[in-house]
Amino acid sequence: MKVIKTKDYADMSRKAANIISAQIILKPDSVLGLATGSTPVGTYEELTKRYNQGDLDFSKILSVNLDEYRGLDASNDQSYHYFMNEHLFKNVNIDKANTHVPDGSEPDSDKACADYEEIIRSYGGIDLQLLGLGHNGHIGFNEPSDEFAKTTHCVDLTESTIQANKRFFEKEEDVPRQAYTMGIGTIMKAKAILVVVSGEDKSAILNEVINGPITPKVPASVLQLHPNVTIVADEAALSKTTL
Ligand code: F6R
Repeated sequence: MKVIKTKDYADMSRKAANIISAQIILKPDSVLGLATGSTPVGTYEELTKRYNQGDLDFSKILSVNLDEYRGLDASNDQSYHYFMNEHLFKNVNIDKANTHVPDGSEPDSDKACADYEEIIRSYGGIDLQLLGLGHNGHIGFNEPSDEFAKTTHCVDLTESTIQANKRFFEKEEDVPRQAYTMGIGTIMKAKAILVVVSGEDKSAILNEVINGPITPKVPASVLQLHPNVTIVADEAALSKTTL
């Protein structure tokens, strides 16, 4: 694992965007694996800036996102698809037809997950997967568990996730109970992985991910086994890590 320490969130966002920019420049038809959440927002802003400066061309880029709530379609402002449109897709010249998020509107979960794996397979796999890190070590919606999930699958959201998300919805009943997520196996097949981490609140889990045992109880710890992982984290997030 290569660890790049940055001064703060803004510095993390610029450096992560530099790595993604290099990928796009070196391989204009790259398959990018993308993430939602608060951490990559600054990275997407930086990519948009570079696009507006004329330094990046997304016209041949293909993208696949990590996860989506089951039951929400792209028009729902709480869907991850909506998030991606707002924070990146509508701001750059990516062809919307080449952007993919698991289909939250597909009620047949087996079909939604199998279709998604097939999209990734037909693209020849993911060139660069961007990840955020959950406080419990989750990546995508792969929560701490007794085993690593291999492929895209449907997960039941934990009560704490439902409680954390309810502030975004009018009523608690509206909060989705399930999500479709790439599996750990899907993520590990990416040729390169870029993890962005910011803030003191992630420092303990980041140390476990980098220095702790490899265990499905800390899903991101499996990244220690991947041959090409770069973690871009700010000083606060790395404050409990001995490198
Ligand atoms: C997002 C995702 C999640 C987040 C993680 C960190 O698509 O799959 O695993 O990356 O929950 O979220 P933030 O960045 O909001 O702390």
